[in-house]
Amino acid sequence: MSAPKKLYIKTYGCQMNVYDSERMAEALGGKGYVETKTPDDADMILLNTCHIREKAAEKVYSELGRFKHLKAEKPDLKIGVAGCVAQAEGEEIIKRQPMVDLVVGPQSYHRLPAMEDAVRSGAKALDTDFPEDDKFDTLKTRAKGKRGPTAFLTVQEGCDKFCAFCVVPYTRGAEVSRPADRVIREAQELVEAGVKEITLLGQNVNAYHGHARGLAGLIWELDKIDGLERIRFTTSHPNDMDDALIEAHGTCDKLMPYLHLPVQSGSDRILKAMNRKHSGESYIRLIERIRAARPDLLLSGDFIVGFPGETEEDFEDTMSLIREVHYGQAYSFKYSTRPGTPAAEKPQLPEDVMNDRLQRLQALLREQQQQTQAAMVGREVKVLFEKAGRETGQMIGKSEYLHAVYAEAPADVLGQVRAVRIVEDSPNSLKGVLL
Ligand code: 5AD
Ligand code: SF4
Repeated sequence: MSAPKKLYIKTYGCQMNVYDSERMAEALGGKGYVETKTPDDADMILLNTCHIREKAAEKVYSELGRFKHLKAEKPDLKIGVAGCVAQAEGEEIIKRQPMVDLVVGPQSYHRLPAMEDAVRSGAKALDTDFPEDDKFDTLKTRAKGKRGPTAFLTVQEGCDKFCAFCVVPYTRGAEVSRPADRVIREAQELVEAGVKEITLLGQNVNAYHGHARGLAGLIWELDKIDGLERIRFTTSHPNDMDDALIEAHGTCDKLMPYLHLPVQSGSDRILKAMNRKHSGESYIRLIERIRAARPDLLLSGDFIVGFPGETEEDFEDTMSLIREVHYGQAYSFKYSTRPGTPAAEKPQLPEDVMNDRLQRLQALLREQQQQTQAAMVGREVKVLFEKAGRETGQMIGKSEYLHAVYAEAPADVLGQVRAVRIVEDSPNSLKGVLL
């Protein structure tokens, strides 16, 4: 038997890309590839790219430049670009960087084995279709090998919301949900392989419609799987938080008390210009209802500062919303012009204004995050231990609130959910003792 070929995948961007990279590796596994952690000994390099903010394409081109010497040393090395930059740039990538052999969009990676044949015969391969055949159906079932205790599972892709700043509806296409029975089967297989916690993924995951009762219906089906202990989902849109999903946060024990629910801005004027189709007030009322169902829920959000036309008053509205809601965790970004999106046509704010607002916003969010971390001290949490820590005897895992928790513990806690008392907080993690 010939030695396995080596595949190096570098993943950028969101968790959906992490999931896609795993599936691409599995698809190429059938062609005799095993994954390697370094590009230096690879027979194929794949960059799984993200296009959500500026300069993404430029970063990809400069990263590709770094592989030039590898290609010169090893002419058989094949280089591919996958993901959303591949979708957005298409053929342009091969024109600008002729050493690229393969360009594959996020909806086409089930075609990678055939594309690999083509590039091995010396041809270039390009596929950025939104094909009729569903990649999830065409991909073979997942390998049975033992896995870590947590896994991502993509259940929905694409977005029909068309927020004025966002490229996702263009790069990932229209909203598509995977049928519930397929998702459940994949979840069962993950659990058989040792997975205890599944995070359901979708660009707009709570718009999931592969089950008659939506995402809540799917969650309740997954709840029945013995051995699956925790369910999470991300990312959601406020307008798709239906009653059943809110209720599940209060009644489904396996559904973890953590919710990522981006609002982007607290100004109704800006929310309207962003085409978000909700107001600051309606978002706050929604949070109240979710917290009534699950009072200890840890809330996370996304914010954009400096959207075209944002005044100091609009920005202050965002700060007020943050003060009112109180976030345990958050991601914030300077507005970044995405060609082809409606907002790209509008005059941009000066960079120094955006920088200043981002700093103020992040200071407030950091303060809230630290308060949330500090409030955990003395509390008992349940930690799913995932890996050994840097210091001997130390194990690291996640609490139900997604806090990173480390504790002195024997190695056999790995893969188990154990009670831990929090004794110390720091900005990004918590220290606990095993109970
Ligand atoms: N500029 C800045 N941030 C953006 N996001 C999406 N598009 C842009 C953009 N053009 C942010 C949003 C979204 C998160 C995934 O990325 O906050 O929720
Ligand atoms: Fe982009 Fe999310 Fe808006 Fe969809 S809902 S357009 S993915 S920001």
